Amino acid sequence: MKPLNIAILGCGTVGGGVAQILTQQKELLSKRAGREINLKVIAELKPQAAIERFGLDQKFFEHNSIGEILDDPDIDIVIETMGGKSDFVHNTCLEVLKRGKNLVTANKALLAERGADIFQLAADNKLQLGYEAAVCGAIPIIKGIKECFTGDVIESVSGIMNGTSNYILTQMQEKGLDFGAALKLAQENGYAEADPSLDLNGGDASHKLILLLKLAFGLTVSMDELSRTGIQFITKNDMDFAKEINASIKLICFAKLVDNQVYAMVRPMAVKNDNTLSNVNYAVNAVRLDGKYSKTHFLIGKGAGSTETAMSIVSDIVFIARHGEVPAYNEEAKYTLGDSKKLSFPYLISFKTNNLPGTTGVITTAIGNQGINIETVGHNRLDDQNGIADFPIETEECTLEAIEKAVAEIRKLKGDLLIDEPKIIPILH
Ligand code: NDP
Ligand code: HSE
Repeated sequence: MKPLNIAILGCGTVGGGVAQILTQQKELLSKRAGREINLKVIAELKPQAAIERFGLDQKFFEHNSIGEILDDPDIDIVIETMGGKSDFVHNTCLEVLKRGKNLVTANKALLAERGADIFQLAADNKLQLGYEAAVCGAIPIIKGIKECFTGDVIESVSGIMNGTSNYILTQMQEKGLDFGAALKLAQENGYAEADPSLDLNGGDASHKLILLLKLAFGLTVSMDELSRTGIQFITKNDMDFAKEINASIKLICFAKLVDNQVYAMVRPMAVKNDNTLSNVNYAVNAVRLDGKYSKTHFLIGKGAGSTETAMSIVSDIVFIARHGEVPAYNEEAKYTLGDSKKLSFPYLISFKTNNLPGTTGVITTAIGNQGINIETVGHNRLDDQNGIADFPIETEECTLEAIEKAVAEIRKLKGDLLIDEPKIIPILH
C-alpha cells in the first residue's frame, strides 16, 4: 500500500512535537497503522529555529511553501498547527479539504469560532477532520465520545479544561496567594502566556466546551451564547470561604442535558472535596462524562505541552490510516440550549459590603423573600480600616435567576450596602 504522506503547517510547540514523534516512532506507528506513515514536509516561518529546537532533518523543510503542499497530490493528511483564527488559517484549512486531503488540527479557537464550514466541508467531501488535540491536549475525550460511548446517551460533560487557570487557583488555594501573585508565578513558571486573557476569562475553556457540546449533544453554540465567567475576580477570601464548606474553587466547564435542553456554562464553581474534580490540581485537566447507561467516568491528564498535545495528533493520524470515514457521534441536533440561569445549584455567594448594622439581616431577608433556603452564613472578614465586611452565604439548591432577584432587592432596600457585585459561585457536589 502507498505510504500515508503527512505535511505539517507550523512547527512550533505542538507541530514540532508531532514531527518528533512521527520521526522517532515511524516504524512502530506504521505497524499500528497497517501502512507506512511518512512525514514528507513541514511549512514553518522560522525553519532553522525549528530544526534546532526539535532536532529535525533539514530535508523536511525543502519545497515547503503552503501553496506547494496544497498542490502536492501525494499529501494525504495536513496537520494544521499554526494556531489562531485568522482568515489565512481558516482559508488554508478549507483549501486542504477542497483538495481532498484529510485535516488534523489542535486549533480549538478556529474550530469553535469559525469551524462550521470546516466541519461541513469535511463531511461533504467524506474526509476526516481530526481534532483530538484541540480539547484538553493529551486526554482522549473526542475519540472517547466518538468511539467508546456510541452505545450511550451522554447526559453531562463537565471538567477542568484550562490548565493555566487551574494552576493559578491551586496556587491561591495552597499558598494563600492573591490572584495577582498567583498569576505572576504562573507566568514565571511558563504556564501563562504574556497575554493570558483567554485563559483567565474562560475563553479558552469555552472553545473546548463548544467543541464538546457539538460532539456530545449535536448542539451548535457560539461564544456569545455560552454563559461564561472567568477567574479574574476570585479573591483570597473567596478561596477561604470555599475551604470552609469543604470545597475548592475551580474553573468548570459544565454541560447537562435536562428534558431535551442542554444547560451549558463556563464559570468558577466551588467543587466539594468528595468530587474528584476538586483534587485535580496545578496545570492538570480533567473531564467528567456521565452516560445514561454507563454512568460516571473521569479522564485526567495533560491538557497542554509539546509531545503531550502532539500525541493526540499522531493518534488521529493512525486512526485515519486505519479507519477511513467514521460517522459522527451525534448526526442531528435534537436539543436546544437551555437558559443556564434557570438551572438549580446550591450556591456560595460572597458579599462585599459596607460594615453597617443590619447588613446581614437585609441580605438574608432578601434571599429568603425569593424562597431560597440558606444552608450557612459564614463568618465575616472585616477590613476595619475601610469599614468593609466580606462574608459568604451557602444556599440550598436555587436558580441564578432567583439570586439575581434577591440582589436587586438588596440594592432597593439599602442602596449603600453592597460595594461590589456579589460573587455567585455554583457549588458542585
Ligand atoms: P506556536 O506559536 O508554538 O507554534 C505555531 C508555529 O506556527 C510557529 O512556529 C509559527 O511561526 C508557525 N506559523 C505561524 N504562521 C505560519 C505560516 N503562515 N506558515 C508557516 N508557519 C507558520 O503555537 P503552539 O504550537 O503552542 O499552538 C499551535 C496550535 O495548537 C494552536 O491552535 C493552539 O491553540 C493549539 N494547542 C496548543 C497547545 C500547547 O500546549 N501549546 C495545547 C493544545 C492546543 P512563528 O513563531 O515564526 O510565528
Ligand atoms: N492555554 C491552555 C491551558 C492550553 O492553559 O490549558 C491549550 O489549550
